[in-house]
Amino acid sequence: MNVSGRPTRTIWPSADGAAVEIIDQTRLPHAFVTARLGTLADAAHAIRAMLVRGAPLIGATAAWGLWLALRADASDAGLAHAHATLLATRPTAINLRWALDRVRAHVAPLAPNVRAATARALAVQICDEDVALNRGIGAAGLPLLRAIAARKGPGERVNVLTHCNAGWLATVDVGTATAPIYAAHDAGLPVHVWVDETRPRNQGASLTAWELLNHGVPHTVIADNAGGHLMQHGRVDLVIVGTDRTTAAGDVCNKIGTYLKALAARDNGVPFYAAVPSPSIDWTVRDGVREIPIEERSAREVTHLAGRLSDGTVAEVELTPVGSPAANPAFDVTPARLVTGLITERGIAEATAEGLRRMFPS
Ligand code: MRU
Repeated sequence: MNVSGRPTRTIWPSADGAAVEIIDQTRLPHAFVTARLGTLADAAHAIRAMLVRGAPLIGATAAWGLWLALRADASDAGLAHAHATLLATRPTAINLRWALDRVRAHVAPLAPNVRAATARALAVQICDEDVALNRGIGAAGLPLLRAIAARKGPGERVNVLTHCNAGWLATVDVGTATAPIYAAHDAGLPVHVWVDETRPRNQGASLTAWELLNHGVPHTVIADNAGGHLMQHGRVDLVIVGTDRTTAAGDVCNKIGTYLKALAARDNGVPFYAAVPSPSIDWTVRDGVREIPIEERSAREVTHLAGRLSDGTVAEVELTPVGSPAANPAFDVTPARLVTGLITERGIAEATAEGLRRMFPS
């Protein structure tokens, strides 16, 4: 997508060919800053500290991280260490394991002297594929928005609610949940997005709002608790969220709070879709609530908040009484029965084991 008029991805090889560059997402929306990853440790840190985040981008960064690692040590032991180090960075997004296993499977049988170059080519391929998958999700989801627009009066807006950031910043480009939104906006439909702020890290308020603003998509940031009220009053036509891991039976694991939106959507007859690129499907898991590991992040993300002061500096403030404990589960699982459909790169699948199998027979 464009940043200040320039086509930009979230991750790219540096011009000197010696490193990988990323957008440091911890600095958005107040500063657009890039960071250079030159080593395995840099890549692992970028994922763990959420300079990059979002399931597809975590996977892409890990693939680049294997390249960085193999340049320094292409032995079997080096490969195993790099795979384990990157896999340990964040537990929930399945794209991390998917990308690491894919690169390892390709390079492990090769002689050490060609492993790094092969890993690099695969990292490039994974990034390009991610963009193509997301464009497929955009094409598959666009008819949903067209149908809503067709039911409405001329000029009446199509209101989509989204949670967290499943936009281009969460992927290499285009985004997953945002792909149908950008496709609708670019096709001239009057789309408007309710952006859940997404406490505690505020990926909605900081990232989704920033990218929608940059692309000129009308949007309104809302407190996480406002969605149910808006649905009761007919002000949400459709919910589209992303996913960090969707099970073979269609349970959708996504940013904490997604489940509550699905409950409110069901109670109000609002269609609830998840945008699911195939690398986000974990075919080994059926019961998402019991089997998916949910990342527990620092309590400080709940007790403290960062923001821009009136003098332009960014500062952190404490919200809670000193001494109050806080808990921070980062994801939840929406059971398949609450999901209207899964927007994949191949089309919209029923959120059932049969529906997913029909869409991905192999
Ligand atoms: O903790 P994050 O910011 O990595 O969580 C991101 C999300 O939950 C996204 O909604 C999900 O990864 C889908 S991104 C296309």
